[in-house]
Amino acid sequence: MFQIGGLVVFCGLLAQATAQLAGLPVPLDQTLPLAVTPALPSNPTDLAGSLTGALSNGLLSGGLLSTLENLPLLDILKTGGGTSGGLLGGLLGKLTSSIPILNNILYIKVTNPQLLELGLVQSPDGHRLYVTIPLGMILKVNTPLVGSLLELDVKLNITADLTFVKDRQGRLHLVLGDCTHSPGSLRISLLNGVASLPVQDLVDTLTGILNKVLPELVQGKVCPLVNGVLKHLDVTLVHDIVDKLIHGLEFVLKI
Ligand SMILES: *[C@@H]1O[C@H](CO)[C@@H](O)[C@H](O)[C@H]1NC(C)=O
Repeated sequence: MFQIGGLVVFCGLLAQATAQLAGLPVPLDQTLPLAVTPALPSNPTDLAGSLTGALSNGLLSGGLLSTLENLPLLDILKTGGGTSGGLLGGLLGKLTSSIPILNNILYIKVTNPQLLELGLVQSPDGHRLYVTIPLGMILKVNTPLVGSLLELDVKLNITADLTFVKDRQGRLHLVLGDCTHSPGSLRISLLNGVASLPVQDLVDTLTGILNKVLPELVQGKVCPLVNGVLKHLDVTLVHDIVDKLIHGLEFVLKI
């Protein structure tokens, strides 16, 4: 009954939309990006799409997913982040109660690594591009505290800032500027609900530590990959893009 009601409403909206399309001029939806600017000669949408496509393909063929899968998370959790103990050492110092909790982790494994659709925007002056690289993964945590594996869904955005340089021969290159995790862009959520307090403690502790170390760790692996991909981009594509950036011409939405 509910579904039929929904369908009727939907059909009603559809009919209205169709009528608008057929008859009166429909005002442009302000939320749609106006990727095509009439002033530009070449097809700007294709340029942006070609770049994000080439970057995605390059990252995937450069081993992005296996890099994520092989993040040394357990080592980091167990050893306190290596020799210095710096960041994590300090953290564990403050949360002394977290050590026995972490001892309850038998292993932690990255599964289902994902590269979601890249985002691309242009700086207000038009000379730079900001690429958002949205990553996803599921962390499987084996702990005797629960009978089954704990699963944490993790999402993180890395932002790569692209600009151009001219080399001594006068050739133009698209290069990586800043490459960081966007502030606050790490999201961790528990996939399989768990009620008991020790498990909740474990999840909280784990989330606290991951918040401190994971963005840097991922950034340290992904940014060099982006750099490598940029060096092997199609020359014509680079030329066309740099040509826009030099003149500050908009070919993707400016921020
Ligand atoms: C990543 O960035 C996209 C926009 O490009 C945004 O929609 C998404 O919510 C961000 N994800 C996280 C985990 O911040």
